[in-house]
Amino acid sequence: MQRRFLFLLLVVTIGIALLLAGLFLDMSPVVAQSGMPTPDRLAQPTLPVDPSQADQGAQVYWLSCLPCHGDRGQGLTEEFKKTYPEEDQNCWNSGCHGERPYESGFTLPKVIPPVIGTGTLQKFPNALVLRSYIFATMPWWRPASLTEEETWQVTAFLLRENNLWPAGEELTETNSAMILVAAPTAVATPQPSLSTVPSWTPPLFLILIIAGFILMLLIFLRRPKS
Ligand code: HEC
Repeated sequence: MQRRFLFLLLVVTIGIALLLAGLFLDMSPVVAQSGMPTPDRLAQPTLPVDPSQADQGAQVYWLSCLPCHGDRGQGLTEEFKKTYPEEDQNCWNSGCHGERPYESGFTLPKVIPPVIGTGTLQKFPNALVLRSYIFATMPWWRPASLTEEETWQVTAFLLRENNLWPAGEELTETNSAMILVAAPTAVATPQPSLSTVPSWTPPLFLILIIAGFILMLLIFLRRPKS
């Protein structure tokens, strides 16, 4: 009898734990959405203790590229310009980066392309070409001002952000020519892929709640009739 009681206690505890876990999981996205302060999008990224080449590149990007190409590599979009102070939002004012810039200023093209995300960087067949382009022409207002090393770093960063390069590895003159950047032009006849068939996987919290419920039910049924 003693044993049976202990067993029941164990099962009840597990059941309750599962139920609670399910409920908590269900609520966690809400908590994350409401309570968190919005991060400062223009803040300098933190450098990890043992930074990789791409981590260093994130610093270069922040310092030399972000003001034009956006905090997420989205390019100078209307939405990104809103993060600027009010008076700096019209970049093409005369005197700023318009037709007649300040004496040491420069005229900015109207379109600044995105560099991170699907469909970007399509003029570059491989990472070596991309790197050479950045080295020779960027940052736009002061081309060729990055060092060789900084250019490799920022290229590694862009590749990493575009899922083209594993985070920890070192991009070099030798391996970069082999890393394809633009999608190959010869596209095979599109095949209906299995992944386009929508498949519904029940969320974890639902599974947990149901598991908890079943356990409780079992206990209830197994209770000795007295
Ligand atoms: C002052 C604004 C400005 C800054 C700063 C700047 N860029 Fe650019 N970038 C541009 C403009 C404008 C173009 C489009 C040039 C063109 O099409 O001829 C461009 C184009 C590019 C392209 C080619 C994108 C494509 O698909 O056409 C890459 C890659 C790039 N920039 C990377 C960088 C990197 C890396 C940095 C930082 C080291 C940087 N840029 C800094 C303005 C800027």
